[in-house]
Order: sequence, then C-alpha cells, then structure tokens
Amino acid sequence: MRRIRLGVAGLGRAFMLMLPTLARDTRVEMAACADPRPEARARFAQDFGARTHDSVEALCADPGLDAVYIASPHQFHVAHVRAAAAAGKHVLVEKPMALTVEDGLAMIAAAREGGIHLLVGHSHSFDAPYLRAREIIRSGEYGAIRMVTALNFTDYLYRPRRPEELDTAQGGGAIFSQAPHQVEVARLLAGRPARSIRATATVWDRARGTEGAFNALLDFGEGLSATLTYNGHGHFDTDEFQDWIGEMGARRDPAAYGTARAALRAVSSPEEEAALKERRAYGTGSGAAEARNAPPPPAYNHFGLVIASCERADLRPTPSGVMVYADHGRHFDPLPPPDVPRAEVIDELHAAIFNNTPPLHDGAWGLATAEICLCLLESARTGREVALRHQATP
Ligand SMILES: NC(=O)c1ccc[n+]([C@@H]2O[C@H](COP(=O)([O-])OP(=O)(O)OC[C@H]3O[C@@H](n4cnc5c(N)ncnc54)[C@H](O)[C@@H]3O)[C@@H](O)[C@H]2O)c1
Repeated sequence: MRRIRLGVAGLGRAFMLMLPTLARDTRVEMAACADPRPEARARFAQDFGARTHDSVEALCADPGLDAVYIASPHQFHVAHVRAAAAAGKHVLVEKPMALTVEDGLAMIAAAREGGIHLLVGHSHSFDAPYLRAREIIRSGEYGAIRMVTALNFTDYLYRPRRPEELDTAQGGGAIFSQAPHQVEVARLLAGRPARSIRATATVWDRARGTEGAFNALLDFGEGLSATLTYNGHGHFDTDEFQDWIGEMGARRDPAAYGTARAALRAVSSPEEEAALKERRAYGTGSGAAEARNAPPPPAYNHFGLVIASCERADLRPTPSGVMVYADHGRHFDPLPPPDVPRAEVIDELHAAIFNNTPPLHDGAWGLATAEICLCLLESARTGREVALRHQATP
C-alpha cells in the first residue's frame, strides 16, 4: 500500500484532534510541517523525524510531499490552499473551507488549475455511522427520506479561544466553527441539494461576543427538510443521550460538568485566554507517542443526536452503529469498532490521491457548506428565508 507523504500546515488544536489518526494510520507518512511556533516545529521533527519549514509556502515547495493538510486558522485557508495547489500538492483543508463564497470559488479554481484533489475536512460527515445511515437510506428499503433532525448541546463557547474566534465578522462563533459539522451530516443524509435556509442565532453572552447557539430549518424541497439545533453554552450536554460517549468517540465523565466554564473563570484577558488555548495545541504537551500508544477509542466520532426519518423507519446513527426503528420492530445495525479514529478521512484522501477516486468531501461540497453557514447568519440577521445558490449534489 502506498503511503501518503503528508505535510501539515498549522499544528494547533485541530492537528491535535487529527494526531491519533495521523500517527496511527499506516497509510500516512508524516513528512513535513510548517507553523510559526518553533516549539511545535521542534516537537514535530522529534516525533516523526520529519522536515520543518517556517512558512506554508516553503512547505508547499517541499518536493517530497503528496498532500498538505491545512489546519491553520480559517482566515488563512484560501492563501494556503492556493499555495499548495500552485505547487501541485493535493489538499485536505479544515472546515470551514472559507469565510466567503468568493474565496471558496477561488480555492476550487486553484485546485482545478493545479490538477489536484481538494478535500474539505475533517467534518463529522466523514464518521462511519453517518455514512452507514446514508447507505441504508440509499438502499431504499425504508422508503424516501423525509426529515433530518439534528440536536447538539456542548460547551463549545467556553473552550479557550483566540480573539478572532470570538468575533463573528472574522469567522468566529458557533456558526463558522460548529454548524459545518451539523450542516454536512444533514446534507449527507438528505442526499440532495438544499434550496433555502431560515435560521435564528443571537449573541446570548455579551462577555463572549459571538453566537454560541442557533436554530435552522434547511429546506431540500419536495417535502424534505432538516432542523438543526445547536447550543454551545455549556449547560445540558447531548452526550447524555449517547451513553456518555463524547464527540471524539471516547468515554466521558458526567461528573466533569462545568469544567470548561470553570477553567475560563481563571482567565483575565484575551491574551491569557489565547495562551490557555495554545496549551491545548501541539508542542509541549502530549505528542505522537501518546497518540500511538493510546488504546483504540471505544466508538466512532459523532456530532450529537441525529435522526433521519424515512417513510417507513427512523434511523438513529449512534457512536457504534445505526439504530433502526421500522414499522415491524427495531434493531441495531452495528459497526466494527474503529482501529484508528477518523480513519474515514484517510480512506477518502488515499483513494483520491492514488486511485483518482473523486472524493465526496471535495471543494464543491465544502463550498456548499460554507454558503449555508453564511446564509444561516444572513437569515438570522434579516429574519428572512435565504435562497441557496452553490449547492452541490452529494
Ligand atoms: N475538524 C475539527 O474537528 C476541528 C477542530 C478544531 C479546529 N478545526 C479547524 O482547524 C482550523 C484551526 O483551528 P484550531 O482550533 O486548530 O486553531 P489553533 O489556534 O489551535 O491552531 C492554529 C495553528 O496554526 C498555526 N498558525 C497560525 N498562523 C499560521 C500560518 N500563517 N501558517 C501556518 N500555521 C499557522 C498556529 O501557530 C497554531 O499552531 C480552523 O479552521 C478550525 O475550524 C477543526
């Protein structure tokens, strides 16, 4: 099996969340990185015996790479994708792909001109239980899909942030950072382009200054719709409905209630908060050895409670399979436990690079999600339904 010689642009929190995948999946060779933080670069060199670069442009020019994983802050995605595409490197760029439709279109054009595959993710629409639910829906066994219901309550707003992550105008808040997951799961299950969105989202906590919650109705036409409810204010937690399996597929302790808010109370300035976030990034804490030696997660990643309602059954993806509630009984469709968390991302990236298999999560897919997030905000601001124009067929 050929290995993807991967370069990483941005060794922060997103990279830490992908590290268990990248350090364990034998289809990946960690070949190089770029990050302005010297301690992160030094750690990368030590962990992987890999090359380090002090700019993303230099990383992209590295001749020993097949692909670049772009996990820098949102505002750099467009420039970093352009640099990678111009250097002929395939790209996996974190969600949200872009902060404007124009930037998303420019990234798709750059990928086309560079002759490379552009993948957007990780998002939770890569998670195996949602992909399995999609397969069941597409089999037609339970009739047409009519409704998707997604509900997620987390402590998102109280995790430590950089200042721009608390400013909606700069891509901050739950709509740019969290809605992409829920939107993509709904789009995946709906299986056809969304037509319009009506949403509400306001700032509840002035001290945080950005939206931590939203409600949205996505209309796919012909009687198919999705309702997306997200609340990141750190009170009720929907993991209670998932037998206390958390977003990353690991077991959680319900007694840890309120820890995100409590940690933030000790912080007295935006600089201190950014420093607290940086302590959760790659560099001085745990690294590749811990990721390699950790036991496999008990279950798959997930993004809260999701129910796909077909004419003759409700399907509920869980962290370990899909519950099917049909006319004549209910049953559980189990998935084999994951060996490597988020291996589904590498499945798609590997197939695109080495078999030229068109990825599901391509640029057009990512742009459709970015447009929905932008229109969610517009609908919340204007109080009107907003028509969508850049929706790819999943
Ligand atoms: N899919 C997921 O589960 C997930 C989770 C967290 C974040 N993300 C996404 O990942 C991206 C990064 O977010 P984060 O929370 O990791 O932020 P972060 O601040 O923790 O990390 C950003 C990293 O990028 C580095 N960086 C800053 N400027 C750079 C530049 N010009 N070139 C190269 N590196 C640069 C920083 O030093 C830092 O190491 C965002 O787009 C976010 O939405 C995705």
